Amino acid sequence: MDGRDLVRSMSVVGSGRAAQGLRTVRAAWRRRRIDAAGLPPRGAERARVPGQVQGAEPGPGGGLIRFGRSELRITVAVNGAVFWGWDGAGPEPSYALAGSCPEPDPRAMLEPDKDGGWRVVAERVTVVVSRHGAVQVCTPGGVLLRRDLPPRWWEPVGGGTARWMQRSQVAADARFFGLGGRAAGPRLRDGTYRLWNTDPGGAFGPGDDPLYLTMPVQLVVADAAAHLVFHDTTWDGRVTLREGEEGAGSGHDRAGRCEMRMEGGPLRCWVMVGTPARVLHTWASLTGAPALPPEWALGHHHARWGFGSEQEVRRIVAGYQERGLPLDAVHLDIDHYEGHQVFTVDQERFPKLPALAEELRRDGIRLVSVVDPAVKAVPGNAVYDGGSAVDAFVRDAAGRSVRGEVWAGESVFPDFTHARVRKWWGGLYEERLEQGFAGFWHDMNEPTSFNAFGEPTLPRSARHALEGRGGDHREAHNVYALCMARAAYEGLRELTPRERPFLFSRSGWAGMQRYGGTWSGDVATGWPGLRASLSLVLGLGLCGVPYSGPDVGGFDGSPSPELYLRWFQLGAYLPLFRTHASLRAGRREPWEFGPEVLEHARVALAGRRRLLPYFMTLAHLARRTGAPYVRPVWWGSPEDRALRDCEDAFLLGDCLLVAPVMDPGADRRAVQLPRGRWYDTVTEQAYEGPAQVLVDAPLSRIPVLARAGAVVPVRGEDGGLELEVWAPARGRTGGGLVVPDTGQGRDDPAIERYTVRLQGTDVVVAREPEGREGCAAEPPYPVRVRGLG
Ligand code: NOJ
Repeated sequence: MDGRDLVRSMSVVGSGRAAQGLRTVRAAWRRRRIDAAGLPPRGAERARVPGQVQGAEPGPGGGLIRFGRSELRITVAVNGAVFWGWDGAGPEPSYALAGSCPEPDPRAMLEPDKDGGWRVVAERVTVVVSRHGAVQVCTPGGVLLRRDLPPRWWEPVGGGTARWMQRSQVAADARFFGLGGRAAGPRLRDGTYRLWNTDPGGAFGPGDDPLYLTMPVQLVVADAAAHLVFHDTTWDGRVTLREGEEGAGSGHDRAGRCEMRMEGGPLRCWVMVGTPARVLHTWASLTGAPALPPEWALGHHHARWGFGSEQEVRRIVAGYQERGLPLDAVHLDIDHYEGHQVFTVDQERFPKLPALAEELRRDGIRLVSVVDPAVKAVPGNAVYDGGSAVDAFVRDAAGRSVRGEVWAGESVFPDFTHARVRKWWGGLYEERLEQGFAGFWHDMNEPTSFNAFGEPTLPRSARHALEGRGGDHREAHNVYALCMARAAYEGLRELTPRERPFLFSRSGWAGMQRYGGTWSGDVATGWPGLRASLSLVLGLGLCGVPYSGPDVGGFDGSPSPELYLRWFQLGAYLPLFRTHASLRAGRREPWEFGPEVLEHARVALAGRRRLLPYFMTLAHLARRTGAPYVRPVWWGSPEDRALRDCEDAFLLGDCLLVAPVMDPGADRRAVQLPRGRWYDTVTEQAYEGPAQVLVDAPLSRIPVLARAGAVVPVRGEDGGLELEVWAPARGRTGGGLVVPDTGQGRDDPAIERYTVRLQGTDVVVAREPEGREGCAAEPPYPVRVRGLG
């Protein structure tokens, strides 16, 4: 038991729930016993490296290279992505890939290289394999982006899963991003990051790693190009990163380094090269387009653990309405369940939930339900009985059902890696829909079990179907939540064929975006937590999961009015804009922090509502191109090193640059601008980038700048769509995309393209023709030009 374990068990015991405290101790012992019996002992191991090259068999897109003690398959796909796999590993089966694997590029072929090596030359990338098995990925111009050294395996002498390690080098100027949701990013500094989805067991800050949603996806950004690298293995592992150093003109650069040590799984990898936009596009084509949220999910959500009753929900909603504050969704946490049991309702405190839901819906407010995977193991609990009947729950190696300890008490866990179980679970959402819920919030799905010591999850030896291949929790753990999301998404698509399923999940893995989004989890209340919030959203977006956001105000404790307001102002520009807090935390309603905060929060809420058409457009663009809504400021100019190191601002789509205030007492802040002209959206003052500028950041607002030439679709006073157009700089043009979406249903509206130019002192906005014959037309919406001085 380490210190953290002790705190974990004490906090449960100390909160008056002594019985549960003791159960967490029992659960931990049980887990330990199951693993002692079910996990293969780690005996002697034999180390292996690939050895010398023996020969090669060219094939479409690349081929197979044989080494003395392994073989390497390389394929360049038509979309330019490079796949390589050792020891016979192919791209499938994979939990990350959506649909079938892309076709190989028929023009790319393995050919002999110098010194006995081999190479594949493709349009966007050249891959060179040395005779010892080092793999180099270079730009078409020959600049080295990544060098993966020959791997090393450790194989149990008696057979079983091999551990492996691989070291890689990247450019001296490269910066690392990604690895899922990391609190200490978005730039991943030197250190070791674990790949094991973990509930940190309390509110977390920037020093906590790993968190709930990890994935072996890195975006590496260097002067020569960006590349995304994905090691497609779901096993536990560690990634150690060390940024390079440039030898200030001496020519002695020290390369950036990455070392991966994995506990098992195939050694296979995808690499995508190009601009950040191109790389994310390729990644989305490989792992699936992000699910489209309904428009209401892009509005403001209010959640709380401990609303406690229908009256309290009504009181909060009335609080918003009486003050004229927009509200789009209310979330019910586990306290609306009967005894914390999933898919139930406490009939005493929520006696007429469908009626409440209907009443709220008439006012444009949706109800969202928390959904936990753990099912209380008591006969008579319909979910437990139903799941047992279809043999849904995870078993140990001896065939007994595995029990953990979660909110409801002793619980079992559905094995979402089985299609039959997913189908059963997906059908359970019918009960939620009948209760009037419109959206779903998946929680505790790392999966978490409150174990007083050891890891807070299932035994590593617990068995999983893994789509019929069979395996244990070491392989299934990281995709547990991904498969739960798939179950819900597919179930909801059947249950409500005309609606967009809306779900977001605490845990997940590569490909999560296909089913929904995620959120920060229990981010600690404090200025560091505010920073961590932005880091998580940016990092996840660069891993292909564009919809996420923090608990505004932080999960625990009570934020100062200033901290709450600054968090609220940031949240208003993030995809998921949700206030939420723990059972024992202070209030989070905007009117609880005094009249000044209320007025500024009102402005933030109104601003968000006005931007809804823009958010909807960004959601469509994410779906079609893989580009996250929230992007680092270097997105369009990754070669700008000052931007690459800027972590305290972000681009919202192509049009806006948001500079949140993340320090107390600030009323001005420095902003690193990308090239071009930028207007302060409140004062309309113009700034020229690239530059660092000082902008006003009074308590009433955070700085938001608009790019000259931008076309921002906004909601006008009458509720209709309007175009806010920012004047291009002299000698320049502008333009933008708009996806006019009603915000619900499954239709995919066409993209509208607008161009902007200066004619004398006038700004002319035209809609580009859809077909070839058409001619540019006037926009079908009112246009408001800004930035003319
Ligand atoms: C943990 C989640 O992270 C938090 O948001 C939620 O309020 C609690 N579980 C209770 O369900």
